[in-house]
Amino acid sequence: MDGNGRWAKKRGLPRAMGHREGAKRADEIIRCASEIGLDSLVLYAFSTENWRRPQEEIGFLMGLLKDYLIKKARDIISNNIRFMAIGERHLLPADVMAGIVDLETSSVSNTGMNLALALSYGSRQEIVEAARRIASRCISGGLKPEDITEKIFSDHLYTSGLPDPDLIIRTSGESRLSNFLLFQAAYSELYITETLWPDFGPEQFLEAISIYSTKKRRFGMTSEQLNHPCAP
Ligand code: IPE
Ligand code: MG
Repeated sequence: MDGNGRWAKKRGLPRAMGHREGAKRADEIIRCASEIGLDSLVLYAFSTENWRRPQEEIGFLMGLLKDYLIKKARDIISNNIRFMAIGERHLLPADVMAGIVDLETSSVSNTGMNLALALSYGSRQEIVEAARRIASRCISGGLKPEDITEKIFSDHLYTSGLPDPDLIIRTSGESRLSNFLLFQAAYSELYITETLWPDFGPEQFLEAISIYSTKKRRFGMTSEQLNHPCAP
């Protein structure tokens, strides 16, 4: 979700106003995604690298997040959404963590859309952390190095239990992944739009999905193989 700062700057507003508007779009997109029956939605809200921002901006973002978790908990639960936060959770302020744990606990048995907020998230850190956990299982004798598969590796990522993303949307015209789901994005379709996040509403979201649905994903196979009646 990129472009909040530029959106505000264009209007002569403080960056905080861009974040506030961006949070409204996030809320609308969550509702829309759940209504159209998506299995999972991951929102990249705060990266490991975002800790380098001015303290005041970080404080504002954490406050926004805490308020959001409190205000929207009821909606999320009543829409049957299962909530989780992925990332270096121990780095988050205690009040934000408390809001996260509350919502995760109260939505754990929901069977609708999975909603993952990537907070203090960095994909390289996630991969290193997975390697550490796998290595310690090997040392304790629970796992043999030759038995490590892609599936086992993937099960040690923060996104364990979530499917790999079919579609990754990047707003505000940047064409990079910025340390987002690097392992999981191997076959994801990328949708890059110039639209700044606070201008990216349900209409733009549905447009991105509609373009995605016209793509033919071959996963390394030929079109002939995929057209075969026995294709996966
Ligand atoms: C939102 O957009 C991303 C967050 C970290 C919340 P930015 O704050 O990165 O906006 P730009 O890139 O300055 O426009
Ligand atoms: Mg940015």
